Amino acid sequence: MLMGVSKLVPEPQLIFERSRPGRIGCNVPKCDTPEVDLQASLGDLREELHLPEVSELELLRHFTNLSHVNYGIESGFYPLGSCTMKYNPKVNELTARFPGFANLHPMQPVETIPGALEILYGVQEMLQEITGFDAITLQPLAGAHGEMTCLMLVKAYHEKLGETQRTVVLVPDSAHGTNPASAARCGYTVKSIPTDKEGNTDIAALTAALDGENGTKVAALMLTNPSTLGLFEPNIEKICEMVHAAGGQVFCDGANMNAMVGTTRPGDHGFDCMHLNLHKTFSTPHGGGGPGCGAIGLKSHLAPYQPVPVIRKEGNTVVADEAYPLSIGRVSAFYGQFLMEVRAYTYLRAYGKEAMADISRYAVLNANYVRARLKDVLPPAHDRPCMHECILTAEKYKKQFGIRALDMSKRLIDYGFHPPTNYFPLIVPECFMIEPTETETKETLDAFCDALIQICHEAETQPDLLHDAPSSQIVGRLDETAAVKNLNVRWWPPVLAHA
Ligand SMILES: Cc1ncc(COP(=O)(O)O)c(C=O)c1O
Repeated sequence: MLMGVSKLVPEPQLIFERSRPGRIGCNVPKCDTPEVDLQASLGDLREELHLPEVSELELLRHFTNLSHVNYGIESGFYPLGSCTMKYNPKVNELTARFPGFANLHPMQPVETIPGALEILYGVQEMLQEITGFDAITLQPLAGAHGEMTCLMLVKAYHEKLGETQRTVVLVPDSAHGTNPASAARCGYTVKSIPTDKEGNTDIAALTAALDGENGTKVAALMLTNPSTLGLFEPNIEKICEMVHAAGGQVFCDGANMNAMVGTTRPGDHGFDCMHLNLHKTFSTPHGGGGPGCGAIGLKSHLAPYQPVPVIRKEGNTVVADEAYPLSIGRVSAFYGQFLMEVRAYTYLRAYGKEAMADISRYAVLNANYVRARLKDVLPPAHDRPCMHECILTAEKYKKQFGIRALDMSKRLIDYGFHPPTNYFPLIVPECFMIEPTETETKETLDAFCDALIQICHEAETQPDLLHDAPSSQIVGRLDETAAVKNLNVRWWPPVLAHA
């Protein structure tokens, strides 16, 4: 019997295994029109398609049981780092489903959507206030798309100045992995900047890189702040000054803004542009891949290049302006993910300025609480307070007992917790990246920390428990590469479980 382990999940049956010939899930009323013999014209379709034959109740149980196999934020703690997988209050979903919003047609003439434009403008205004930028565009459809849009604007800006020799983008090795990809996608050469011993951008390496090589010049620095080490970059103002002195622009990856809303503003730190992930910080659920909004903030010198339509105020009316001569054009269809803006608007208005700042403070407090509770068993990668996520290392368990961070994470499943992110950032060996977010109670955080402390003890005393974990689930360790590359979820040929 496993200590503190959640109840074992019963092995679900396939719907085909529940099938019995002749069982039926719905009673169709007697036909009052001439009947057509489908069987005669199409053959026995039911037989050919091997459709399961089950009662209504069996069908209901099948899907209800399947839904219990799924794990999400509403079933338990979800400490995934880097991508703020936080709880999104239900009121945001409610407003996004209001028929007046949900039934808008993207092709509707702009004169018929003044309320929708007001929402877009309202979100822009609030994000402007939160980030300290002069303009906000809501069009990009993901964080990485926001990064890429910012770099497209930087390119347009440099081209306008005639500075086409700026072909290099600097990316610290503590940045999110999408940053170098976005830079490469825009045709830039990416140069990595190392992190120093304290977890900050290495200033000496940055100075050298800003000098340029072989006649090339730096177009931009992309800095994730707080970094993927969960640390605030203390030299940010100096770094921005250095890059500006070399003629470059500074982009802030703001996907970690959950650590800072209402407490400090990237626009005041010296950044020229940034992206936010509304689907992470501003309350749209994004598990499963969508929808996304990588809103971007711009200082006034980049604003003329922003994508159209530009949502702006003309007197008392909000308009969608396509006539922006320097615009890079559209980066998405219509106005982006409109219902995400409805959710963000609801979220921001429901909490207000002060409570939004509290959300960030609690997110930071919770991460530091977990860090402090675990520091004796899983030391932090850098011995200083963290922001919204803490980065810990299980290196000693690998060296002494052959237990890896992954084994520990898999064992957490046996204790009823979703594992945190492992092995990211890449620069920390046997890495745990834990982001508790603001909504978790002290009791939940304690239960999670207790489980990890117990698991560290097991690593020393019963390592096989960890090698075999998880042992409480329908499946144990999967070949994750094969699960992605050779995914086969088709049930075929049928093995009908007839009695
Ligand atoms: C710090 C950071 N930057 C950028 C991204 C990219 O965002 P998206 O997944 O929406 O493209 C993420 C999330 O994956 C992130 O955590």
